[in-house]
Amino acid sequence: MNVSPGAAPAFASPRGRFVTFEGGEGAGKSSQVTRLAERLRGRGLDVVVTREPGGSPGAECVRHVLLEGAAEAFGPLAEACLFAAARADHVDRTIRPALDAGRWVISDRFYDSTRVYQGGGVAPEMVRLLEQVAVDGTRPDLTILLDVPAEIGLARAGARRGEGVADRFEKEDLATHERRRLAFLKLAHEEPERFVVVDATDDPGTVAEAIWFAVETRLGLAPAERSA
Ligand code: TYD
Repeated sequence: MNVSPGAAPAFASPRGRFVTFEGGEGAGKSSQVTRLAERLRGRGLDVVVTREPGGSPGAECVRHVLLEGAAEAFGPLAEACLFAAARADHVDRTIRPALDAGRWVISDRFYDSTRVYQGGGVAPEMVRLLEQVAVDGTRPDLTILLDVPAEIGLARAGARRGEGVADRFEKEDLATHERRRLAFLKLAHEEPERFVVVDATDDPGTVAEAIWFAVETRLGLAPAERSA
């Protein structure tokens, strides 16, 4: 076979697409992630669903430490470093290999969560530096921000949790959650080409349709992918 230097080998798949979901507590991300994955699979696409913190064996171990609050005492920078370490493993072991194999990846949270949640206590330059190291160029093609007022989101999260205990980040006060909501909206405003903001107070079916419309139009599903 005559392959010119630098040309992609004939068997290489085109890179898959990377979609992330972001939003505050109780925005309905996980059920919308599942719906979108099912719909894409129905179009014949190979989809990997993942989440943060977690998404690889190493990162799932770090998830426990973070959500149980075991790292809280070490301060916001140490927590941000742990999120970054978990993300580096997640990208290396799960996300990048899937994209390189031509698969679609949908992640329930990614680096925008660090920008918002850890951004309150760590300098923005440090947050961006950690992000750069962790993702090493692997960035989302589309980020869906499910927007819901903090009060509604927290009520939903509380109802879902039942008697269970709120995690390290959920337990914070309403004003903190509302600040996070505004911080997410600000990120969306700054990067309109990557973000789509969806009103998550609507019923789940309406929210799912808005997400599907965004995915079809922003990621330009090819006709073969649409009709598969
Ligand atoms: P999780 O149980 O996955 O629930 P949900 O995504 O539905 O809120 O909780 C993850 C928590 O971790 C959530 O409160 C947000 C927080 N978090 C950060 O603080 N920084 C991060 O970088 C990520 C990915 C999550």
